[in-house]
Amino acid sequence: MFGKVRLWLAGAILTATIGFVSMTTSSFAMGDKDLRPDVVKIADLFKKGDAAAAKKAAGPLGKEFKELGDLMNMFRTRKAAEGLGWGLKTPAGVPDEEDGHDKKIKLLIKANADDAAKHPGNTEEAGFALAALAELILAKTPDKFDDSKIKERTKKNWTDRSEEMRAASLELAAAGKSKNGDAIIKSAKKVYGACNKCHDVFKD
Ligand code: HEC
Repeated sequence: MFGKVRLWLAGAILTATIGFVSMTTSSFAMGDKDLRPDVVKIADLFKKGDAAAAKKAAGPLGKEFKELGDLMNMFRTRKAAEGLGWGLKTPAGVPDEEDGHDKKIKLLIKANADDAAKHPGNTEEAGFALAALAELILAKTPDKFDDSKIKERTKKNWTDRSEEMRAASLELAAAGKSKNGDAIIKSAKKVYGACNKCHDVFKD
């Protein structure tokens, strides 16, 4: 009897500890693999122009992300949130909090053309990384969609938004390569539009 209570208590403490740890640490600090290098490999395939190989690689990698939220974490800052960051390395003078996709896209939309054209190499890399993430979002298309409350929650809508994000991301990469600030802003707006359109429908 007493033993059972003790066992229950030990279980409760363990559950509380795990809950605490997962709240305070990153998604892979508990022994999960850091999947960022694998995302970069897919970005490289897009850079090589091999979209078919990128799609093929995204299938199995998508399964390694347990939750869609773990994948969305890649959009966050490099150091503080263990996201991918904007480009492969943070340029000197750029603070970490401005170095995530989520934040940087918002900054670019409001930037003037000269500021948007700073660090174009990073923008090119970020564009290919965003295309890789769009491909992974596609790979993680939910099996079922509940459109009973929100009728736009359909597989077609999920696919369209992801493909829209992928196309806009490749445009962003090209704009980075050409170092054209106006084109960077224009394509960043398209990427952001795809993020938001999907969130409006599918995010609770
Ligand atoms: C095809 C749909 C889709 C696209 C495209 C998409 N997201 Fe998401 N995103 C979601 C869903 C669904 C969630 C909620 C996931 C959950 O909580 O399980 C989410 C959650 C997030 C989160 C987690 C934090 C929060 O606000 O809850 C971030 C950050 C995020 N998305 C950023 C982005 C960015 C940046 C882009 C575009 C570059 C993007 N997403 C594109 C569907 C999408």
